[in-house]
Amino acid sequence: MQKKLVPDYIEKLEVYQAGKPIDELAREKGLTKISKLASNENPLGPSPMAIREMTNALWDVHRYPDMFAHQLKNALCELYNLKPANIILGNGSEGIMGYIVRAFLQPNEEVVTSENTFIGFLILAKSVGAKLIQVPRKSDYKYDVEAMAKKITPNTKIVYIANPDNPTGTYITKEEFDYLMKHVPSHTIVILDEAYFEFARECWDYPDSMNYRYDNVITLRTFSKAFGISGVRCGYGFGHEYLIGNLHKVKLPFEPSLIAQKGAYGALKDYPHLKRTLDNNKKRYTETVNFLTAKGFKPIPSVTNFITLKTGSEEASMYLFNELLNYGVIIRPLKANLMPDHVRISIGTKDEMKHFFEAMEEVLPGYDKKFGRI
Ligand SMILES: Cc1ncc(COP(=O)(O)O)c(C=O)c1O
Repeated sequence: MQKKLVPDYIEKLEVYQAGKPIDELAREKGLTKISKLASNENPLGPSPMAIREMTNALWDVHRYPDMFAHQLKNALCELYNLKPANIILGNGSEGIMGYIVRAFLQPNEEVVTSENTFIGFLILAKSVGAKLIQVPRKSDYKYDVEAMAKKITPNTKIVYIANPDNPTGTYITKEEFDYLMKHVPSHTIVILDEAYFEFARECWDYPDSMNYRYDNVITLRTFSKAFGISGVRCGYGFGHEYLIGNLHKVKLPFEPSLIAQKGAYGALKDYPHLKRTLDNNKKRYTETVNFLTAKGFKPIPSVTNFITLKTGSEEASMYLFNELLNYGVIIRPLKANLMPDHVRISIGTKDEMKHFFEAMEEVLPGYDKKFGRI
C-alpha cells in the first residue's frame, strides 16, 4: 500500500475559525462603527506601559530576543514567588499547549476533558493523534468532575481543564479540584488553563492554582485577555521543574518575540490598567446580564469577560449573529464548539455594549417572530 503524505488524524482536522475581523466586516457592509464582541479580548486596549515597552524595543529588533526572557521571568517570579525553572513562556498560552502536546502526548494516548471546551487545545491534542475523551457537562453547564475522574485509565496522559471554561464561563471549585486530584494518578498530567484567571480570582471557591504544588499539574495563563496584548502573543506556564525543563527541550528558542516579552513585562507592571479592565468588566457584565434577562434570555452565569446564552437552535444563533453584523456588532455563534444553539458575547466598553443593546433592540422584533424564547 502506498504511504500517505498526510496522516489521517491531520487530514481529519478542521482549520480553527477565529472571530470575524473588524476590517473585513467594515469593508463588507460599508460600516464605520464596529463593535467586536467575539474573541474575549480587552476592550480597553493594551496597557500604556506595555505600549511604551514595546515601542522602545522596536530599536532592538535586529537582534534575537533573550531566549531565557530574564526580565519577564524575573518579574513573574517576584509576583508569584516562583523560581525561573518553574516557568515557561510561549506564543500565547496556546503556544505552550503546543509544546505540551509535542513533549508529552503520543499517538493513541488519551486526553480526558469536557465536551464543548476550548477548541484550541482539542485541535492540538488531535494533531498528534491522541484520543479525546470528552465528558458531557452537567445541566448547569459546569464540568462534570466526578464523571471525568471515572474516565481516567492507565492510558490517560492528560486531563485538560479550562478554569474558567471558554465558552461557558463556568469554573470548577476548590472542592471539585481537590476531588479530581485525588483521582489523578501520577502518570497523568493535569493542564489547568487559567486564561481568564484575573477575572475569576475573586471568587472565594475558585482554586487559584498558585496555591497548590502538585508535581503533575501545569498551569497556563496569558497576556491576551485581562492584560490586553493578544496581538503580540505571550503566555506563561508554571509547574514542576521536571515538566517545565522537558518543555524547554521542544520549545522554539526565540519564542516569545522580543516585542511580546517587552509588552508582557509592561502589562504585568501596569496595575492601574488591569484595575480599569476588571472594573469595566464587572460593570458591563452586570448591565449586559440585566439587559439580556429583561429580554427573556437566560445567560449562563460567567466569571469571565464573556457571556454565553442559549438561543434554542442553530438557525436562531445564526440569525442573531448575521442580523447583528448588519448593525456592526460581531458576536460568536458556537457551532464549532458543538453548541450551535448558543451564542457567546464578549464584554466590551460602555460604548460598545450600548451599541450591542441598540442593535439588539432593532434585531429582536424580527428574531422573536421567527424563534421566540426557549
Ligand atoms: C480557555 C482559553 N485558553 C487559552 C486561550 C488562548 O489564549 P492565548 O492567546 O494565550 O493563546 C483562550 C483564548 O481564547 C481561551 O479561551
